[in-house]
Amino acid sequence: MDNLREVYEFAPKAREIRIKRWDLPAPWINYLSNGRMHAFVSQAGGGFLWKDNSADFRITRYRMHHYPIDTPGFYVYLRMADGTVWSPDFRPFGSKPDKWEAAHRPGSTSFYAEKDGLTAVLDLYMSQETDTLIWRLSLKNCLDKPNENAEIKCDVFAYAELSQMEWKEEQFGGYYWRHMLKARYDREIGAVLYLCHSSIHHTKEGIPLVYFAQDAETESWCCDRDNFAGNYRSEQNPAAVEQGFCDNSDLPHGEPCAALQSTVYLRPGDESVSHFFLGGCGRALVDYEGAYGQAKDDIAKLRTPGEPARQFALLNSWWKEHLELFGCDLPDAAAQNQINTWSPVNSVNTFRYSRSVNTLAPGLRGIGFRDSCQDSQAMAYRKPEEAKKLLRILLPKQCEDGHASHTVPSNKKELPEAKICCDDHLWLPFAVYAIAAETGDDGFLDEEIPFLAADRLSGGPSASVWEHLMRGIRFTNSHLGRYGLPLTLGGDWNDIINKFTPEQKGESVFAAMQYAAAMRRLLELAEYTGRTGDAAFLRDEIARQEGAVNKCAFKGEWWGRCTDDGGNWIGTPQTRGGELWLNPQSWAVISGSGSVEQRRAGMERVHERLNTGYGLRLLIPGYETWPDANDPFTGYNPGCGENGAVFCHSNTWAIIAEAMLGHGARAWEYFLQIMPHNALQKLGLARYKAEPYAWASNIVGPESKKYGWANVMHVTGTAAWMDVAATQYLLGVRPTVAGLVIDPCVPPDWDGFSVKRVYRGTSLDIQVENPAHVERGVKEMYVNGARIDVRGVPMVAADMLRDGKAADVRVVMG
Ligand code: GLC
Repeated sequence: MDNLREVYEFAPKAREIRIKRWDLPAPWINYLSNGRMHAFVSQAGGGFLWKDNSADFRITRYRMHHYPIDTPGFYVYLRMADGTVWSPDFRPFGSKPDKWEAAHRPGSTSFYAEKDGLTAVLDLYMSQETDTLIWRLSLKNCLDKPNENAEIKCDVFAYAELSQMEWKEEQFGGYYWRHMLKARYDREIGAVLYLCHSSIHHTKEGIPLVYFAQDAETESWCCDRDNFAGNYRSEQNPAAVEQGFCDNSDLPHGEPCAALQSTVYLRPGDESVSHFFLGGCGRALVDYEGAYGQAKDDIAKLRTPGEPARQFALLNSWWKEHLELFGCDLPDAAAQNQINTWSPVNSVNTFRYSRSVNTLAPGLRGIGFRDSCQDSQAMAYRKPEEAKKLLRILLPKQCEDGHASHTVPSNKKELPEAKICCDDHLWLPFAVYAIAAETGDDGFLDEEIPFLAADRLSGGPSASVWEHLMRGIRFTNSHLGRYGLPLTLGGDWNDIINKFTPEQKGESVFAAMQYAAAMRRLLELAEYTGRTGDAAFLRDEIARQEGAVNKCAFKGEWWGRCTDDGGNWIGTPQTRGGELWLNPQSWAVISGSGSVEQRRAGMERVHERLNTGYGLRLLIPGYETWPDANDPFTGYNPGCGENGAVFCHSNTWAIIAEAMLGHGARAWEYFLQIMPHNALQKLGLARYKAEPYAWASNIVGPESKKYGWANVMHVTGTAAWMDVAATQYLLGVRPTVAGLVIDPCVPPDWDGFSVKRVYRGTSLDIQVENPAHVERGVKEMYVNGARIDVRGVPMVAADMLRDGKAADVRVVMG
């Protein structure tokens, strides 16, 4: 195994990861955002900036799938008096710093570098009150000799390559549209201003005026990328930096960039701190004067001494407040670090970006309906109002018949994907339940929200959120197949399962189980809000669906996965290829299907046959071709993606299922083995490649020679579900409409743990003791010293918290 301490180390108290090597097998990125303006940046300074959404308002460029990887980014070049050039963010580099380190923390990234007595620290973070990426650069002369040679002269260049805003159009017609762009240095403001004067942009009203300014004196500038770099050069060895100044060229049209140069003189001990401001504001094509005035004001504000530091403090207090809504103290320090900091950070990112944007995901997918419904659960337990906002975007994409659009395009004029999946609408109950359970407020259920009209673009008739949920149930209820299970239609959670059923006659066991689990949540809400008629319907339909599943889906040793158009079973001991699938085994437990013995049997087979030691495979064996040579599964090679990778998203449900079965040791084994830091440690850097702090969508399975390679980082449902699995099922602190259940499931060698959690406005300090070393079970519980009856569900009932006073909760397992 590599010595990974030489590669990275966590500093949990500072909620930081320090990265000591820039040349990693893949970029390790961090998202910087204020909720409106966003960027990601890697440990090597690569990344890009966008406003609102990365499909439409991409301010700087990033070259996906291209060599050199992870370029361009937010670059600072330091040119020393002898012509040596280096960069605090390592890339682009002329020569290497003597010392170097990068650090990611929630919402900010820093680079620390030193060369020939000059230390440079570059911090990147998003201003909270303006839409500006702030680059703070500190340079310090650390030479101690008090002679004249010890003065350091350094030319500082800051550089970003600008983009044409609309990503798809740039690929399509950028060679024409580049003659619609303008960039120039504005002497009044003292900034490069860039206008993407694009008449073809589909929401051109939203195009901002882009600016790049600094608070040091600008000595030269460049707005023309090709002038800055020079012929057949690139941002790695730009001619402007080599010669020591920019050519002050504006860009009447062409390939834009923003480069600013200044000079710093430092005597030993001197430190200079300066800032660069890369931002965008206003509706520049609709109201240029307004946008210009806004840019001027934003820059003036940010140039005020102390203002960048104030914006940094605002950013940090947002994260502090968000992360302190739930915090745990565990016997396992690595798990604690993941659960307290990096999982919720990842949940915020998937909440913002769905499956859309990372170093390889171009950000064109908009929002996935099923994806964002699932993601909202991890936001609901911290910021239920934010989760509601997302649902107010999703619910209008549900059609009157109850099915939901598979995607919500960022481009409002673009039709959403036409395919009808059997599961999209069935994730709504999970999202809405999570909000109601957190708040106890059923008002959201009555909120009127339009359905999607028949043209699939405009708003149709409105109905309450509750009616939306019930329409979804009725849609499934009216799309059942010969076994009484939901028809798979265009797919269930598994994007490519519909390959089995081109005639759409096949049925999905997973969807049947999801349907039952969704209805159980709705039943709880119906009973809570007195919707007796719907409650009766739901009770009957749950019983019918469970009866149908129990009758046909258990295949002797485990649960089958689905049927094809002819009613033949996939995922049984008799099936050729794909005989055992993970999801129906875990969802049998989650939905309460079959007998307890059948649920346990399915999960035992999972442990015996699907566990790799770094996660559970989605199915075995992977299909060589799918399902026969004429109809490949999607082309995924065995062990990759949905064809038998360790699908991390599905591992979350296996963890929940084992916790629900009361198997603490196993549930934690599954959580710990796939936790990014642990999986990377086990597999090694060369195999795993990706970030040790962000969840992966999938890790290549053992059928491939590249097993262990982690894919699709950050923007994955794994993030939100792992957050929910760890906090609500492993630690067992789970909101329900009636109150906060505390029902931990832990490794038996744990003596206990503690959790601080805000619930319905009350701060709870929960101490869990495990004197008998059990895996699950609560024997005694005390709230502010008063003993509670735990014979039913161990719960801090909502009415015990009405006065909002902090509560001490003591839980004794046994
Ligand atoms: C990808 C898709 C998601 C799907 C999953 C499994 O993550 O974004 O919608 O559920 O794959 O196929």
